[in-house]
Amino acid sequence: MGRSKAVFVCQECGHESPKWLGRCPACSAWNAFVEERASSAAGPAARTLGTQKRNGEARPLRLLDARAAPEERTPTGLREFDRVLGGGIVAGAVVLVGGDPGIGKSTLLLQVMNSLGATLGPVLYISGEESAQQVRLRAERLGAVGGDLFFLAETDLSVIEAALAGNRPRAVVVDSIQTVFHPDLPAAPGSVTQVRECAAALLRWGKAASVPVFLVGHVTKSGELAGPRVLEHIVDTVLYFEGERQTSFRLLRAVKNRFGPTHEVGIFEMTEAGLSEVENPSRLFLAERPPNAAGSVVIPAMEGTRPVLVEVQALVGSTNFMGTPRRLVTGADYNRVAIVLAVLEKRAGLALGSQDVYVNVVGGVRVQEPAADLGLALAVASSLRNVPVGQDTVAVGEVGLAGEVRSVARLEYRLSEAAKLGFTRAVIPATNREGLRLPKGLAAVPVRRVEEALEECVAR
Ligand code: TYD
Ligand code: MG
Repeated sequence: MGRSKAVFVCQECGHESPKWLGRCPACSAWNAFVEERASSAAGPAARTLGTQKRNGEARPLRLLDARAAPEERTPTGLREFDRVLGGGIVAGAVVLVGGDPGIGKSTLLLQVMNSLGATLGPVLYISGEESAQQVRLRAERLGAVGGDLFFLAETDLSVIEAALAGNRPRAVVVDSIQTVFHPDLPAAPGSVTQVRECAAALLRWGKAASVPVFLVGHVTKSGELAGPRVLEHIVDTVLYFEGERQTSFRLLRAVKNRFGPTHEVGIFEMTEAGLSEVENPSRLFLAERPPNAAGSVVIPAMEGTRPVLVEVQALVGSTNFMGTPRRLVTGADYNRVAIVLAVLEKRAGLALGSQDVYVNVVGGVRVQEPAADLGLALAVASSLRNVPVGQDTVAVGEVGLAGEVRSVARLEYRLSEAAKLGFTRAVIPATNREGLRLPKGLAAVPVRRVEEALEECVAR
């Protein structure tokens, strides 16, 4: 390591440069370059764990002969967590759990590890952020103090490696990967080099021992700590834990998953006793819906393979003076809202050009799919005209630029969820109507154009 030379590494994405740059050419982050020492090809971490080279030539295997061993999956005890993973944790998988500080990553993984301990045997929670006393207190609150849950407060990777080799835990958490460092590496803890090398070493250990490894990663923009983006390439699965700090909902999403789908969403609620699974998200999201309010529409959206009813709210009011009208969108796709507004203006003659429009999807949920268009359009029109859409109505459909309402996928799933929660009327694309089996108690209002939907729901 003696002859390592200096390089500058973007702390956001890991891009390397021989000189300092104000802006990263790879990820466009500003002021993200920090000087680090280049590590030799096989870093010290690699040497510690002994990457062995076998002699002799490598023989390619005919793919036909490769036997696909069924992945062994262990349920984690939290069904919502399993759903996102693709049905339990795979032996040897390395899972990165990212999220803002305080969102509940440590809580989630402590609960997961406690129940993995009960099924797998001894498991190890390594923390570089909290002491055993702190974690013990939390574990008691969570009722997660199983006899097979072991704890180690450590940040030195060489010590961690020794502990792993000596104790052979059946699952491991490293909380957080940014706090771990290898003493032989000349870079500072939390730097891209450290984070990458330490993660790679833990990954090699997990693969060799066939043990699942969970890495906690902080998401920061400051550039002080390496963002988990550098890690995303290395690990098997990347999960993001998110939600508004003020509300108790927490959503777990997979953005990368070598062992399962990436579109599933786990929904949790942060309670006094830790994270609890939300069995019926629709009910929760609609719990505080104001009765018969103008500008509020319920959309039967899909979160992965699961239908979830969400409330979208719009507020439309005249723009002050001669200013440019404001458009503020949270929880929905800004560009789709812009299209919907243009279509309402042009095809349905709504005068939105002089109106501020605010759109919000309630509960910190994000609805990005085009199927939300019709609901968005109705919410905006309902607010503009001050006519409520009706308490018992849901609306779903994609809106095209010509004002046509286009069909959506999985309509029966969406509608049965709506019927389950007591909705009696569904505005749907007419093109979806044929052959559609409607759930009991739900009447369909098929529409071909956005104007028809306005006529049905928010006529003055
Ligand atoms: P934590 O898991 O420490 O977050 P992270 O590891 O992502 O930084 O959780 C932080 C918050 O969760 C903390 O503000 C308190 C809250 N919390 C509860 O509301 N209930 C609980 O049972 C626990 C353990 C935490
Ligand atoms: Mg934490």
